[in-house]
Amino acid sequence: MNIFEALRESHDRQRAYADALIQTNGDTPERVEAYQRFKSELQAHETAEERHFYIPLMEFDNGVDLSRHAIAEHHEMDEMMETLDETEMSSPAWLAAAKKLAEKVNHHMEEEEQKFFQMAGKLLDDKQKETLAGQYVKEYKAQLS
Ligand SMILES: [Fe+2]
Ligand SMILES: [Fe+2]
Repeated sequence: MNIFEALRESHDRQRAYADALIQTNGDTPERVEAYQRFKSELQAHETAEERHFYIPLMEFDNGVDLSRHAIAEHHEMDEMMETLDETEMSSPAWLAAAKKLAEKVNHHMEEEEQKFFQMAGKLLDDKQKETLAGQYVKEYKAQLS
């Protein structure tokens, strides 16, 4: 497995969890559970992706801008989750904010997969791609537990 395949596995889970989240209604156990699942996945992925993908890419001159951009977006998504945490789950504002977050996350993953992965593919050698995958998966699992 290389780092791109490892990252995509979580992206696919995030897409599924985000879709499920915006189908939920009001202050229900389903919504609480769907949000917790989505949030845990996103947070574990962000941290592991920063530590074992973006920070190593920062070593390259051509990796600095893309890493900064992606990490800034992680921060924006974290702030959107903070907003959700502070919003009454039964209010229409909660679903509106959840939809905005889902859109943001989808856009972010699209940009990573279509643009950043291609750029990183040219910077990292095969050995690095494999080593980073192992480190990423280990960190991701540690974050989730
Ligand atoms: Fe990301
Ligand atoms: Fe990602």
